[in-house]
Amino acid sequence: MKALFLVGGLGTRLRPLTDRTPKPMVPVMGRPLLERNMEALKQHGIDEIVLSTCYRPEVIEQYFGDGSDFGLKIDYVCEEFPLGTGGAIKNCEKYFDDTFFVFNADILSNINFSEMLRYHKRKKADVTIAVTRVENPSAYGVIEYDADGYAYLFKEKPAPHEVVSHFINAGAYLFEPSVLRRIPAGRPVSVEREVFPNLLEQARKIAVYKGCNYWLDIGTPEKYIQAHKDIFEGQLHLPEMNFHERAVYSGPGTHISGTAVLRGPVYLGRNVRIEAGATVGPHVVIGDNSLIGKKCKIANSILWNDVVLEDGANLSECIVTDASIVDGTSRMKHVIYTPEMIKAAKHLAI
Ligand code: GTP
Repeated sequence: MKALFLVGGLGTRLRPLTDRTPKPMVPVMGRPLLERNMEALKQHGIDEIVLSTCYRPEVIEQYFGDGSDFGLKIDYVCEEFPLGTGGAIKNCEKYFDDTFFVFNADILSNINFSEMLRYHKRKKADVTIAVTRVENPSAYGVIEYDADGYAYLFKEKPAPHEVVSHFINAGAYLFEPSVLRRIPAGRPVSVEREVFPNLLEQARKIAVYKGCNYWLDIGTPEKYIQAHKDIFEGQLHLPEMNFHERAVYSGPGTHISGTAVLRGPVYLGRNVRIEAGATVGPHVVIGDNSLIGKKCKIANSILWNDVVLEDGANLSECIVTDASIVDGTSRMKHVIYTPEMIKAAKHLAI
């Protein structure tokens, strides 16, 4: 069975994390979000993937290649200009002649894909949409559905007084290929605003699948931090780590000084070096080849790869992107570092 990931968006709400890294490639516990999602699909026997790219496609293609290193077959369809979520699906039409999954690439969930597929077939639906319940749906696309589990209304970002349903589109769908013929070609189309409402007008069946009890879209830096907190606290399980069983995970080649203190839960990648007197944790992720200098203090923060914290730096609730060098005098809370921002700060200081 095949799955299509929509990976072409600009990820503007996640800037500056997405300045150089497309949203699907931001690391979640040291590995790209997209890799984590593909891995989850593979567990359900879905290993043929189509990636619909647009923004920074080369970053994605260089990492995954043809998919063989990941036990997958991956095809790429790159848009010359953004076609929107619906246009992107239409643009990949030639790859699909049977029921297929479609995913927004910015979600983390525990959807049981085999069960969702069985539900879709049982409902004889043209499209099945996974939905999830949220307290405040006004930032999302809300779906109303009937007693038989079929959608009858889509409302984007309802004002608080308009909220009738708390079930939102979780960005995971099953499509019958016949639906593709109903999507206009060659222009931007939104699946949420145009394709789904049009299908309802054409009396097509859109089923609503509610079997998703963990869901988060990593659309903003706050949600990105939340995702890691949820994994640390065991609300979402990744196959290779369980922080209830073990407080600290570390990759090969990692060296921790005898006088450093690790306060779990902590995740350390490969070849991380933590120097004397440093205190790391709780809720800290440190990516590959990073160096934490003497007497540094880090809590509730996510460091990507090749990061250097000079001796004495103190970070709390920060995100530090690839190859950043953080000055030892830094005392930072709630800051996103990128190498560009650090250069700019140094320039101003001069
Ligand atoms: P924001 O700019 O912060 O809204 O993020 P985004 O650009 O990712 O948009 P959004 O979160 O609405 O996108 C949902 C999913 O669709 C993400 O996985 C995007 O990568 C993808 N997506 C959005 N627009 C396009 C597009 O024009 N083409 C393709 N191929 N994918 C898209």
